[in-house]
Amino acid sequence: MSRSRLRLLLLAAALALAAGSSHSFEFHEATLDAIHSGFKNGSLTSTALVRFYLGQISRLNPLLRAVIEVNPDALRQAARADAERRSSGDRQIVGLHGVPVLLKDNIATRDQLNTTAGSLALLGSVVRRDAGVVARLRRAGAVVIGKANLDEWANFRSAIGTGGWSARGGQGKNPYVLSSPPCGSSTGPAIAAAANMVAVTLGTETDGSILCPSSLNSVVGIKPTVGLTSRAGVIPISPRQDTVGPICRTVADAVHVLDAIVGYDELDAVATRVASEYIPEGGYTQFLKIDGLKGKRIGVPNGLFDFEDGTVRQMVYQQHLNTLKRNGAVVIENLDIADLDVIQNATVSGELAVLAAEFKIALNAYLSDLSFSPVRSLAEIIAFNNAHPDEEMLKQFGQLIFLVSENTTGIGSIEKAATQQLDDLTANGVEKVMKEHRLDAIVAPDSSSATVLAIAGLPGIAVPAGYDEQGAPFGVTFGGLKGYEPRLIEIAYAFEQDTKVRNPPMFKQ
Ligand SMILES: *[C@@H]1O[C@H](CO)[C@@H](O)[C@H](O)[C@H]1NC(C)=O
Ligand SMILES: *[C@@H]1O[C@H](CO)[C@@H](O)[C@H](O)[C@H]1NC(C)=O
Ligand SMILES: *[C@@H]1O[C@H](CO)[C@@H](O)[C@H](O)[C@H]1NC(C)=O
Ligand SMILES: *[C@@H]1O[C@H](CO)[C@@H](O)[C@H](O)[C@H]1NC(C)=O
Repeated sequence: MSRSRLRLLLLAAALALAAGSSHSFEFHEATLDAIHSGFKNGSLTSTALVRFYLGQISRLNPLLRAVIEVNPDALRQAARADAERRSSGDRQIVGLHGVPVLLKDNIATRDQLNTTAGSLALLGSVVRRDAGVVARLRRAGAVVIGKANLDEWANFRSAIGTGGWSARGGQGKNPYVLSSPPCGSSTGPAIAAAANMVAVTLGTETDGSILCPSSLNSVVGIKPTVGLTSRAGVIPISPRQDTVGPICRTVADAVHVLDAIVGYDELDAVATRVASEYIPEGGYTQFLKIDGLKGKRIGVPNGLFDFEDGTVRQMVYQQHLNTLKRNGAVVIENLDIADLDVIQNATVSGELAVLAAEFKIALNAYLSDLSFSPVRSLAEIIAFNNAHPDEEMLKQFGQLIFLVSENTTGIGSIEKAATQQLDDLTANGVEKVMKEHRLDAIVAPDSSSATVLAIAGLPGIAVPAGYDEQGAPFGVTFGGLKGYEPRLIEIAYAFEQDTKVRNPPMFKQ
């Protein structure tokens, strides 16, 4: 072949590639809707999607530390999903089929992945079965791509803080401004979603652990009503407050994931039976309404929006209240949640007393159900930490909550009185305000309403709201009463579609 002919052929090939690329799949910021149409028109396979995300993980994880483990079976699961779609055609292009999901490392999987809550103490422990939510993901045909880093503050090292650290995962970094805290404890899921290291993720929350990292990493987090999603197989803190929910780049994606994971589970029977009453016929995607703010009554509690005049946050949040009104919502300002200062102080409210007692009971139950584990009780984890002070960073973080928790002796009179006080604080606080003013939601900056929602098992959705003077993201949370997910989704989706705040991260030093 002559040289010029070869050159022509190469040119033709390059042109063909360029033409193809105009129809090729855009991986960055891919939504589930885009993934579904990519599967339909043949521009995308699950295998290509998993390869893209594995590439992102190997490129970005040394910097961001969002992922603790990658699933060695992920490509095999993707190939199986591709084969299933080939043999059944479009019928399999629904929900999460063939979609890579990243799981917070306290959500158990019975596969090659470890489940450790980021702690060295649980490395090598073997679970009997997948967590309830993972079993649902697998039935939906999702691909488990790996385990996400977390801030193990209450799990295995127990410093109270939001530094995004785990002994196994290291310190997670905010992908927008590397020096800005990414918050926890669902640090890794939020970072990974933000930085396009996976399609969708699952986090968990006891008090702020979905809403806070979602707010600070410009992603959407849904913290479901406690019991809407099964906690079976999730390394626990508090059965009263723990909940599993999606962290994704868009409200629609998070709602698709929510649809896949809600429902009754006999291994978390009481809570999931009660909450399954809230699941609407036809699922949650019907509430993705562009005019979802119309007629909604949204309350603005005092004491949460306190930013200095002239700061970016103060101005942007003010604009957002106007956005809500412009879209037809009735915004009611200046509402008092009674005893908010008590609610916000876990020592005074009784929250800490209840969590300390519940943590010991629930963790010991989780550990005793493992088919193998190097540690079988909270006491043994405390001993493990004492024996490995450097690896578990005992000097930096201590393990005070563990010691306090180990000191408890079940749910006695102190814990019962504390639980009653928490219930009273809710009844006289957020419930009273919401009923008096017939509210659909309360709105608050970032995760500042997290504790109000947490102590009562109430749902909330965090949505990107803006970027501060340095470029670090902040968010807004819409919270409601039990089972209010449908109206919170309407509000969050309409707000997101009007504001379109989310931008991909810039990795600023
Ligand atoms: C297939 O769908 C994806 C996602 O909507 C789009 O980006 C791509 O251009 C489409 N490709 C073709 C060949 O139509
Ligand atoms: C799970 O932990 C063990 C160490 O105990 C390690 O050898 C293995 O690679 C881990 N699994 C994965 C999928 O990373
Ligand atoms: C909570 O209340 C206790 C007891 O009044 C007080 O010592 C502590 O400083 C308070 N904590 C916060 C974060 O305000
Ligand atoms: C645990 O209880 C013992 C005995 O009552 C007490 O001395 C110790 O200070 C307690 N430790 C913590 C961390 O509360």
